[in-house]
This record gives sequence, structure tokens and C-alpha cells, in this order.
Amino acid sequence: MSPLTNTVQLKKDVPGSSLDEARSTPPALEVSSVSKSFTHRRRETHVLDQVSLTVEPQEFVSIVGPSGCGKSTLFHIIGGLTLPDAGTVSMDGVPVTGQRGKISYMPQQPALFPWRSTLDNVLLGAELQGAPQAEAREAARHWLAKVGLGGFERAYPHMLSGGMQQRAAFLRAMLAPQELMLLDEPFSALDALTREQMQRWLLELWEENRRSVLFITHNIEEALLLSSRIYVFSGRPGSVLHTVDVPFPRPRRDEITDAPEFLQLKRQLSLWMREEQAKSL
Ligand SMILES: Nc1ncnc2c1ncn2[C@@H]1O[C@H](COP(=O)(O)OP(=O)(O)OP(=O)(O)O)[C@@H](O)[C@H]1O
Ligand SMILES: [Mg+2]
Repeated sequence: MSPLTNTVQLKKDVPGSSLDEARSTPPALEVSSVSKSFTHRRRETHVLDQVSLTVEPQEFVSIVGPSGCGKSTLFHIIGGLTLPDAGTVSMDGVPVTGQRGKISYMPQQPALFPWRSTLDNVLLGAELQGAPQAEAREAARHWLAKVGLGGFERAYPHMLSGGMQQRAAFLRAMLAPQELMLLDEPFSALDALTREQMQRWLLELWEENRRSVLFITHNIEEALLLSSRIYVFSGRPGSVLHTVDVPFPRPRRDEITDAPEFLQLKRQLSLWMREEQAKSL
């Protein structure tokens, strides 16, 4: 049985945002009652239990949950790399369960191709979709410069720092033409300072150039800063324990992290996460 789903809503969402309009169109992503088990050497692991969630067009949604609760598996299911045992995935109202090529995806390990230069790595998504070469190259150069990778277009991945590789992998996902982006812990390998810089950068970028985003993170503050909604997952088998609407208006700036409402939500989410983590030990 799936656990009770609570919805926490402090205030109505941003007035005048495009979200109100978006409600009348189908969600960019709808995951309905997805369950999944893996069998390895005759041992079955129940990984996801009746997970349902939505991402509206141009909405930034996060998933937080304990390690091993099936978050990356859910992304593989949405991306069509893994089939669910039960449940469906729809995009823009169209069933796409098991279909590939519908999303742009940044995996948990930034997988840049070592034989491709930074520019060619960043261009991969556009190239696979047959986007016009010259335009895509120009856009890639523009964004590389914007994220501090100007001058590194021709460098190979082993010549970049970990943070630079992550930025390049992120740009590759961002420049792919698919509207829906799945980001699996894009900042997890970064030190605290670089991570903060990247969060700020992603926030500005997204506010300027809105896409539909589903974002996995272990970092509650990051989820609160970036998202309009957060799904809190239980320990394995992962299911949606709580759905939290994040009320802060946009554009958001660092100062909101000091607001009493922000701290209250952060405390609540931390408590839920600690409880779930404790259960899985
Ligand atoms: N292809 C597979 N075959 C067998 N088991 C798998 C497979 N993929 C994932 N699992 C198992 O599914 C469970 C969930 O893994 P998953 O990577 O989805 O967790 P996660 O929530 O992303 O964890 P983390 O936060 O550590 O990244 C784990 O127990 C893992 O061993
Ligand atoms: Mg994972």
C-alpha cells in the first residue's frame, strides 16, 4: 500500500505567473502509479511503489529522498531506458512509456565523451536531433562563455576540472531541443562554494529561459531555492510521502534563504528526510 500523501501549501503560487495558464494545458510530464522491482540472483528488490507526479509546462520541480529509494531508476523509466512493471509516463498528454528521445537528461555521473572536445560534447543533443549546425554552434559558444568555459571549447574532458565538466554536461542537456529536462543531482560532486555559484547560475538561467525541469537533489536548501514544488520520497521502495508547494515569488534571490517561511519549510523537510533515513538504517 502506498503511504499517505500530504500536501503542504503555505500560500498560493506566484500571481501572474504562467503557471495559471499552464494548468489548462496537459502537464509536460505525468507519471502515474509507476512501480518497479529488480531481480538479481533470484533476489527481488522492490524499488518504486506507485509513484505519481507531474511537471507542468515551464515548471521547476524537485525530488528529494534517501539514497537508494529509486530516484535515478525513476529517471531511467521516464527516459524510456527502463520499463516500469506497472504505471505509465505521459508527456504533453501523450503516453510515452518506454519511448526514448523525448527528454534531455543529465545523468548522475556527468558522462562527457572523452574523444569529443567541450564544444562537440555540448553540441551532442542538438546534433542527434539534426538541429542546424551553424546556429547550434553559435548558441553553444555563447553559453560556454556565459558559464566560464570560454576558451575551453577545444579542450577535451580530461583537461577540465570536475566542476567544469559538470557545467559542460549541464549545458549539453540545456541545449538539447527537448522541452523537458531531467537533472539527476547535477551539483553533487561540487564543493560548497562552487555549488552555490552553480545554483545561482541555474536559477538565473532558468528564470531567463524557462524549461520544464525535474530535478533530483539531496540538498533541501537547493530544492527550496529552485523549485515551485518538491516531492519528498520515502525510503525504498520509493513512494511519494509528501508534496510541498514552495510559495516564494520569482525571481528568487539568495536573501530568501533567511526568510522565516524558508527556514520553517527547511526544518520540516529536514525532519521528514531524517525520519526516512533513520528507517532505512
Ligand atoms: N539495473 C538494475 N538492476 C538491479 N538493481 C538495480 C538496477 N538499477 C538500480 N537498482 C537498485 O535499485 C535501487 C535504487 O537505485 P537508484 O539508483 O534508483 O537509487 P537513488 O534513489 O537514485 O539513490 P542515490 O540517491 O544514491 O543516487 C538500488 O537498490 C539499486 O541497487
Ligand atoms: Mg541516484
